[in-house]
Amino acid sequence: MEKKLVVANIGMMFGMAHVEGAMGYGAEIAAICDCNEETLRAAGEKYGIPEEKWVTDYMDIVNNKDINVVSVAIPDQDHKKVACDLLRAGKHVLCEKPLALTREDIEEIVKVADESGCKFMVGQICRFTPAFEKAKELIESGTIGEVYFAESEYAHDYMAFLKGWRADPARHGVVGGGCHAVDLLRWLVGDPEEVFAYGTHKLLPQVDYDDATIAIMKFRENVAGKVFVSTGCKRDYTMRTVIYGTKGTIICDNTSPTMTLFVVGEDGLAHDPQIIDIEVNNHNAVKEFSVFADAIVNDKPVATDAREGAKTVEVCLAIVESAKTGKIVKPNYNF
Ligand SMILES: NC(=O)c1ccc[n+]([C@@H]2O[C@H](COP(=O)([O-])OP(=O)(O)OC[C@H]3O[C@@H](n4cnc5c(N)ncnc54)[C@H](O)[C@@H]3O)[C@@H](O)[C@H]2O)c1
Repeated sequence: MEKKLVVANIGMMFGMAHVEGAMGYGAEIAAICDCNEETLRAAGEKYGIPEEKWVTDYMDIVNNKDINVVSVAIPDQDHKKVACDLLRAGKHVLCEKPLALTREDIEEIVKVADESGCKFMVGQICRFTPAFEKAKELIESGTIGEVYFAESEYAHDYMAFLKGWRADPARHGVVGGGCHAVDLLRWLVGDPEEVFAYGTHKLLPQVDYDDATIAIMKFRENVAGKVFVSTGCKRDYTMRTVIYGTKGTIICDNTSPTMTLFVVGEDGLAHDPQIIDIEVNNHNAVKEFSVFADAIVNDKPVATDAREGAKTVEVCLAIVESAKTGKIVKPNYNF
């Protein structure tokens, strides 16, 4: 059990959220790392981290025996190598989503995480969004009865930043971004047994894969769902998620400041919606880090461990395969 967390953060673009998460928790930041010196300097200065703690080679963190917790926010293609190097060196690892982009890589991370005995968390940050946490609570308390249909969408215009590693064909939008919506439905409803998908490609000529995909899913018997992913959409970012139950409906629309809940009355009908004043659009990095820290300090299991991150990627890969082949695909959760 680790009592004192000595933290390093690798990747200083989105990874700044991890620095904020660790700082918000009150952990000691022992090192920040980015292979781009300008980016590293900007982050170091922004957070007042002294220059002697800036490193450009992540192996300096791997080899630093004092550091015991490391967050990784670098291109998806490199998650496996860096996360596995850290785990093999005995570090607890918080790795950005998606866990990785291929079946081979996710299997290897699961294996190395198991062997390491360290805590591993994949940053499926939507599980810490207050409205989605509330939705989970409402489902589990039976407020909306039995879920029979659930849908989530990830619509985010990548046009302005679709270059470099994000334009790699292996980084299909369903895996790279759609994993948020897929993970959310897995968490709220369960693992889909079958998926069927259809894709279109009209908006992002710089990539040779679909920029919009609709996937329908069969969850357990008599429960269905849908995920829509668009990475070229001409609108603001949305992760609208709706959960339909036999006694009510939850609507989380992150373009709205509140969530909406319908619950049937004694007449069996849902009349006026309840407006719940809770944040729908909040990537809560402080909560994410604090949950990870709690798992380390108190030796608790991590809910979004490597296997859980792997299952989400597996569903995303099944969607991509179905859209390509026109066939129903059954995800293989055997890790
Ligand atoms: N949870 C979310 O909502 C969310 C949002 C954005 C990005 N992400 C994820 O975070 C990760 C990073 O995304 P980003 O938007 O910051 O990408 P980015 O390309 O903007 O930044 C990545 C940074 O990592 C640095 N880097 C790359 N390889 C490195 C290495 N081996 N060692 C040290 N530094 C290295 C780069 O110089 C760059 O500054 C990706 O996995 C992405 O999918 C998650």
